[in-house]
Amino acid sequence: MRLMHWQESWHRTSLKVQRTNMYNPFRIRRMIVMKRIVMSLLMAVMVIFLTACGGNAGQNGNSSSDTLDREQSSAPAEESASVQPETDDTPEPSEDAAVTGMDSTDAAGSQEVPDAEGSKVLVAYFSATGTTKGVAEIIAENMGADIYEIVPQKPYTDADLDWHDDSSRSTIEMNDRLCRPEINGAVEDMEQYDIVFVGYPIWWGEAPRIVSTFMESYSFDGKTLIPFCTSSSSGLGSSGKNLEKLTDGAQWMEGMRFGGGASETDVKAWIEGLDL
Ligand SMILES: Cc1cc2nc3c(=O)[nH]c(=O)nc-3n(C[C@H](O)[C@H](O)[C@H](O)COP(=O)(O)O)c2cc1C
Repeated sequence: MRLMHWQESWHRTSLKVQRTNMYNPFRIRRMIVMKRIVMSLLMAVMVIFLTACGGNAGQNGNSSSDTLDREQSSAPAEESASVQPETDDTPEPSEDAAVTGMDSTDAAGSQEVPDAEGSKVLVAYFSATGTTKGVAEIIAENMGADIYEIVPQKPYTDADLDWHDDSSRSTIEMNDRLCRPEINGAVEDMEQYDIVFVGYPIWWGEAPRIVSTFMESYSFDGKTLIPFCTSSSSGLGSSGKNLEKLTDGAQWMEGMRFGGGASETDVKAWIEGLDL
């Protein structure tokens, strides 16, 4: 009996409590208010957390979008600066070309541009059909160098350049190691140059004989010489080494061969790799 009474009492109390919780409007409102406060606090904590992360990323510059933005905005500026510096110091073209046979388009290269650690640079080249000339001009422009074209006294005709013909001028010249075709014009003051790029097309795996004429026409003592060539498919091969044998006291660097489709980017990458 006593037990039954306790159980009944407990049941009634329980029902009363449930009813009180369910239908007490003050209690419900208090719960809603509490819930809102908790939600607001959670939101506030999240906002503070997110703001702190965003701020740090901006200060450190570590966010990927920030890095990308800076790369995209700086790259074109660097590119244009290296091709054509737009500073007040940019030298004006001079009437006083230090080198004979210089192209008018290369006049800017004739100025005293302190490139390659203040060295004076010359780009000398021979080009029968214009490919090597294109590479030479890119080098000269990017090095702030003077440019000199090795011009044959007697220009090469198409027939002269026919390598299928055993009796063409080029074939005859290349078959004779001692052949030295004459050059029209000369470098005015070779003495002033510290670095000389020497460019040519590959003919029969070698530099054309007129380049040998050029190498034997000057003293390159104490200068740095850098060969470069263009060809259909052959590499630089021994062409640079064979030219080296014609000079005394010069320091020859590893050369480079370019194909007909060499871009400015290719040539610039090579120049930068030289670490002059
Ligand atoms: C007479 C002659 C010989 C050549 N021999 C070679 C050769 O041995 N290997 C090669 O890859 N290209 C050879 N070529 C192709 C030239 O090297 C190539 O077209 C070069 O880029 C031309 O340069 P240029 O326009 O400055 O004269 C030869 C061209 C000529 C006219």
